[in-house]
Amino acid sequence: MSQFRLTQISDTHLARRLQKLTDNFHRVAAHIDATRPDLVINSGDVAFDGPTSRADLEFARGLHAELPVPCRYLPGNHDIGDNPTAVGPAPTQPATEAHRQNFVDVIGEDRWRFDAAGWCFVGLNSLIMNTGIASEAEQFDWLGSELSRANGKPVALFLHKPLYLNAPEDPELESSAIRYVPQPARQRLIEMFGTVDLRLIGSGHVHQRRDFTYGRVRHVWAPSAGFIIPDRMQEVIALKETGLVEYRFTPDSFEVRHIRAPGQVDVDLDELLYPDRKA
Ligand SMILES: [Fe+2]
Ligand SMILES: [Fe+2]
Repeated sequence: MSQFRLTQISDTHLARRLQKLTDNFHRVAAHIDATRPDLVINSGDVAFDGPTSRADLEFARGLHAELPVPCRYLPGNHDIGDNPTAVGPAPTQPATEAHRQNFVDVIGEDRWRFDAAGWCFVGLNSLIMNTGIASEAEQFDWLGSELSRANGKPVALFLHKPLYLNAPEDPELESSAIRYVPQPARQRLIEMFGTVDLRLIGSGHVHQRRDFTYGRVRHVWAPSAGFIIPDRMQEVIALKETGLVEYRFTPDSFEVRHIRAPGQVDVDLDELLYPDRKA
């Protein structure tokens, strides 16, 4: 295959009770049906509240199963719980092995590696990092083994949380540590991917669309497919809108398109939290 078309969706946050998010998913699904990429990746927060509601994960799985193309998945903090960090407050719902296993049982995977169009694609579970649970060490072992077999191919990494805001040496701040891959796991990833030809990191989680290049690596923050977070809850870093990202990989190069599915609506989180409040 000399080209590989990949569509990244993220932060779908699906639950049967949240019709506006389901509506947005259906608009994304219609666009995927019209464009027929080779693969769809959901980079996490697949469900609205996976740790406490297996039904949310099952509902999300059912909607993705109806997509007319193959789909691969990574977990988000709303699927399996969140990372402990060295500087921020403890997460109210920490990632656990039981939550991770629940996600794998329903969704089918929490990490992957495959090759296409001369590229090596790696998807990681970023929420178990710094937890100390057995699957964290096991994933790092697996990653080392997979990267040793990249054989000089360009590498594209996908994970739920961005590695950092602007640069590898950015300090962890109490106010935003939860937004990025926490230290020291971040540094370990940077060192491991420093041994291969890393070209792209595609992430989700922030619900803001962003695209920048640091060194040889392009960082693409996919927006949420479902909703935006109001400014009173989250600072503006880049573009607050719903949408998706399309990639076309060919041997040794790739293109990125930032788009919105026709009819996709910028649902505000406040509309979900306070459905009876008038605008
Ligand atoms: Fe999210
Ligand atoms: Fe998230």
